[in-house]
Amino acid sequence: MNKEPFNTDRFVRLATALSVLIGIMLLMVVLMVGSLVFAPQITAWFSSPAPVEKPVIQKTAVIADLWKAPDESSIPDGEDGEAIRYGRDLVAHTSEYLGPKGKVMSISNGMNCQNCHLDAGTRPFGNNYSAVASTYPKFRARSGTEESIEKRVNDCFERSLNGKALADDSREMKAIVAYINWLGKEVPKGNTPKGAGLVELAYLDRPASPENGMVLYEQKCIVCHGKSGEGILNESGNSWIYPPLWGEKSYNNGAGLYRLSRFAGYIKANMPLGATYSEPQLSDEEAWDIAAYVNSLHRPEKDLSNDWPDISKKPVDHPFGPFTDGFSDEQHKFGPFKPILEKQKEIRKQVASAK
Ligand code: HEC
Ligand code: HEC
Repeated sequence: MNKEPFNTDRFVRLATALSVLIGIMLLMVVLMVGSLVFAPQITAWFSSPAPVEKPVIQKTAVIADLWKAPDESSIPDGEDGEAIRYGRDLVAHTSEYLGPKGKVMSISNGMNCQNCHLDAGTRPFGNNYSAVASTYPKFRARSGTEESIEKRVNDCFERSLNGKALADDSREMKAIVAYINWLGKEVPKGNTPKGAGLVELAYLDRPASPENGMVLYEQKCIVCHGKSGEGILNESGNSWIYPPLWGEKSYNNGAGLYRLSRFAGYIKANMPLGATYSEPQLSDEEAWDIAAYVNSLHRPEKDLSNDWPDISKKPVDHPFGPFTDGFSDEQHKFGPFKPILEKQKEIRKQVASAK
């Protein structure tokens, strides 16, 4: 009997089956090694991504009847007009006239009033002067006296510009006051127009955090104000392109911005540069935390021993004791401020009912 002839068909089938088997085994090895090497990445695909918390940016609704500065064409001719124009120039370019290299005298730290009173004190919620002519002279608890516009301007010279006071009858003081009065000339006596001063932020339920603030500062402020808050001077060195936020050339610890609520309100509606009250770029929490960071760093110190002669009138965010409410300096600096406010109200009620 003939042996069965060599069956090519069967051989091909066998070989195919074998190579498929080897292929599958190779694939399994590759998959096993791969899954070991890339295990972390693979787990990451399947687990849900870490939730990125986007801060909710609370906005102030657009206000239709905001205060607007008078038109420039309403500056009178003659001596009065000259004073107003000079005053405006002094507010916008203070340092050129009165800074360390000032051409009139050297009585201030190189900052301009306009660095904080934006657009020469005309910007809504940019710390403008709209309510000054209409509300001064007025009693202020910080000094415990009735204050004139001159006194208030000098407060900023001595604190915000860490400098010296101007004489009330100096040409410069007269000009600044003339300008401020002209700006507010259409505001009825006693009124505070919409958009005056700064926005008021709601208090947080926790202390403001310098640690969070530092991270945010690096993301949102450092490009202009610098790693050490040192700012950037212009070429001639007599004015800031980006003003300093702390250190020797910044405002001192008696300045308005040293209070967290003032700083937070200022940056909320104005910083980073380009932000406005209706299009802010920071959430309230971010503004408070950055304020805590910047105001926990070194800056010039002023003798404040004559401030707040009636200590019960100190604002909740005035950080220097003694206080009548029993809260620490620390809590008066960083908050939470609501419990302090409640306590102060309670004390005032008791005082009133004891009378
Ligand atoms: C470092 C920031 C800063 C600089 C610079 C500065 N100020 Fe001020 N100024 C403030 C703050 C903060 C307030 C208080 C705002 C508030 O409490 O609502 C204030 C308040 C005032 C007020 C009272 C406003 C009101 O409605 O009661 C006047 C007037 C004033 N500044 C004038 C000046 C003048 C003039 C200069 C320049 C010589 C100047 N300031 C420079 C921060 C500054
Ligand atoms: C793109 C540049 C830029 C960025 C970013 C920026 N600023 Fe400013 N900042 C300025 C300029 C310019 C001024 C002065 C405005 C003027 O003179 O008109 C200023 C003024 C200020 C002032 C008042 C003046 C002073 O030096 O005390 C404070 C406070 C301030 N910035 C805080 C901040 C904070 C906080 C951030 C981050 C949230 C920030 N800025 C981001 C450009 C910037």
